[in-house]
Amino acid sequence: MKRNKIVAGNWKMNLDFEEAQTLIEDLENLLDEKQPSCEVIICPPFPYLELATDEASEHELFEVGAQNVAAWESGAYTGEVSAKMLDSIGVSCCIIGHSERRKYFGEDNKTLAAKVNLALQYEIVPIFCVGEVLEEREANKHFDVIRKQVEEGLFHLDIADIENVIIAYEPVWAIGTGKTATPTQAQEVHAFIRKLVKEKYGDDIASQIHILYGGSCNAKNASELFAQPDVDGGLIGGASLKAEDFVSICEQASK
Ligand code: PGA
Repeated sequence: MKRNKIVAGNWKMNLDFEEAQTLIEDLENLLDEKQPSCEVIICPPFPYLELATDEASEHELFEVGAQNVAAWESGAYTGEVSAKMLDSIGVSCCIIGHSERRKYFGEDNKTLAAKVNLALQYEIVPIFCVGEVLEEREANKHFDVIRKQVEEGLFHLDIADIENVIIAYEPVWAIGTGKTATPTQAQEVHAFIRKLVKEKYGDDIASQIHILYGGSCNAKNASELFAQPDVDGGLIGGASLKAEDFVSICEQASK
């Protein structure tokens, strides 16, 4: 079975409301014109999610993801946003475990596993991020780090749930730095993650699970990365804020 490609845009903490409206409008015009065949996801900040889901249901050009979700169901957790809330406004996926969440907000694998569970409970597809920091790569520990992140964050799931998870490999040293992993480096880690999934869940799941690459992926290098057999698309930060670049990346994922 051939996996379709997925391109997801992580807007992070950028743009005011008017800029977000403009970006969505520009994306709609370009996506409508170019009609890329890959699945397109945009992940704006929380305050713009409903604008995005309204547009998504009207034009059906992209799906909408959140950048984070609470690790609790509901209640006295000031400032948090639950999976149920996201579901109730039509959000269909959610980035979980981004390295910026792990680093600045101290999110560990146990917390992330709880977030994954709640997302799945509300039929929100987790885009679960893993990746090593530079010192770990230099010490050749990246495979161990990624194995631990995948095992502790995801491998408690049963087959029916793991089927609905997207994994994103994002080497931390490549995020926002302009230093992309080479296609060979990306392929090596993606194949390793797929092997872990195969050992745990078998061939069928391993061959259908999507593994995205993220980390300075842009309109210039996307083609090469997406040409790797185990790279099923990208999680795009900086380049997702420019409609032309993002749609060009979507087109490159559609070849
Ligand atoms: P970047 O970010 O494309 O700006 O490197 C990717 C990400 O953090 O998801």
